[in-house]
Amino acid sequence: MNKKLVDAINKQLNFEFESAHVYLAMQNFFAERSLSGFENWFAIQYKEEISHAEKFMGYLKTRGGKIVITGFGNPENEFKSVLEVLETSLNHEKEVTRRINELMDLAMELNDHASANFLQWYVDEQVEEEDNFNKLIDQVKLVKDAGLYMLDKELASRVFVPIPKK
Ligand SMILES: [Fe+2]
Repeated sequence: MNKKLVDAINKQLNFEFESAHVYLAMQNFFAERSLSGFENWFAIQYKEEISHAEKFMGYLKTRGGKIVITGFGNPENEFKSVLEVLETSLNHEKEVTRRINELMDLAMELNDHASANFLQWYVDEQVEEEDNFNKLIDQVKLVKDAGLYMLDKELASRVFVPIPKK
């Protein structure tokens, strides 16, 4: 595998772990306010990000690329409102999408068809991630405080579905 692509995948897999921490901090924002449905939803978001990182690790392992785990910056722990958390999340996902697209560009530039095919899963996943947060933002704006309780109940039903490791 091309060294440049291995490095870029390593950078992204560490960013997936960083994303997990972003959502872990948000999970606790909701836990502190007894919004247990939102807490559940963000706990699953956290797990999803870990599984995204693990999927990248599985791929590097299969292709013989060296996995390098790094540290990362502190996530935001202070938010003024539920809406602020969701808007921060959407912006974060847009940044993830930008990075995934860059990875895809590199794989295509290198004519690495296997990597491009592998990365397509993430391209599709990002469409879903941005859609999830866009919908949640719309719903929170619609329901305001009165409906927040009902929405919280609905979010409590989200379950974690493991993705294949490779
Ligand atoms: Fe992710």
